[in-house]
Amino acid sequence: MKAKFITFEGVEGSGKSTQARLLCERLEENSIPAVLLREPGGTAVGEKIRRVLKDYDPLAEISPQAELFLFAASRAELLQSVILPALAEGKIVVCDRFHDSTTAYQAFGRGIDIGIVQQVHKLTLGDTIPDLTFLLDLDVAGGMKRVSLRNEPGRPDDRFEAEKEEFHRRVQSGYLALAGGEPDRFKVIPAEGAIEELADKIWRIAGDANEQ
Ligand code: TYD
Repeated sequence: MKAKFITFEGVEGSGKSTQARLLCERLEENSIPAVLLREPGGTAVGEKIRRVLKDYDPLAEISPQAELFLFAASRAELLQSVILPALAEGKIVVCDRFHDSTTAYQAFGRGIDIGIVQQVHKLTLGDTIPDLTFLLDLDVAGGMKRVSLRNEPGRPDDRFEAEKEEFHRRVQSGYLALAGGEPDRFKVIPAEGAIEELADKIWRIAGDANEQ
């Protein structure tokens, strides 16, 4: 097996969490040991950081710099205490968002210098980067609509969903720029199709990547 560390990325409402779960289920059905993780979170500390980062409280603003380090802190913990041990045991690690989210949201979305964000990745991850990354590509307006249907009317579920469409467009174009720069690692999947069709496509691509 070549692709041992697989991540899913995309804007809000792109359906990546569902696809990450379906891939993991299929791996297990095929007796391939796999762990499903999500970011931020996945450890006791990471879940606490997740609540701080997601909580929509207009009176408790978080600066872009603090936000960058909170995501990095959650990721450092997840890497050391879950991802590296799972990879060492020969498991496939499937992660719903990873460091590309930080580049897309904190560099392209919030405007932090991309070179600084990359240095933070180096500090947090060393040489451990995903082998394969699925970018679920969805029109931003469509994704925001899907998310707003999931939430109570007029009440955003979290700080990122409360951001304007313009922010999510910058995130989206950031993702596409990242994918263009690393075409071997990134597989861009148009996210409009039926859930099962997308899952089949992702399963095939993951299999091909493993056979290379
Ligand atoms: P989550 O509920 O997991 O969103 P989604 O279902 O869209 O994955 O919330 C995570 C939010 O945090 C999401 O809006 C993207 C944002 N995020 C960053 O800004 N930077 C990061 O490094 C990560 C991992 C997530």
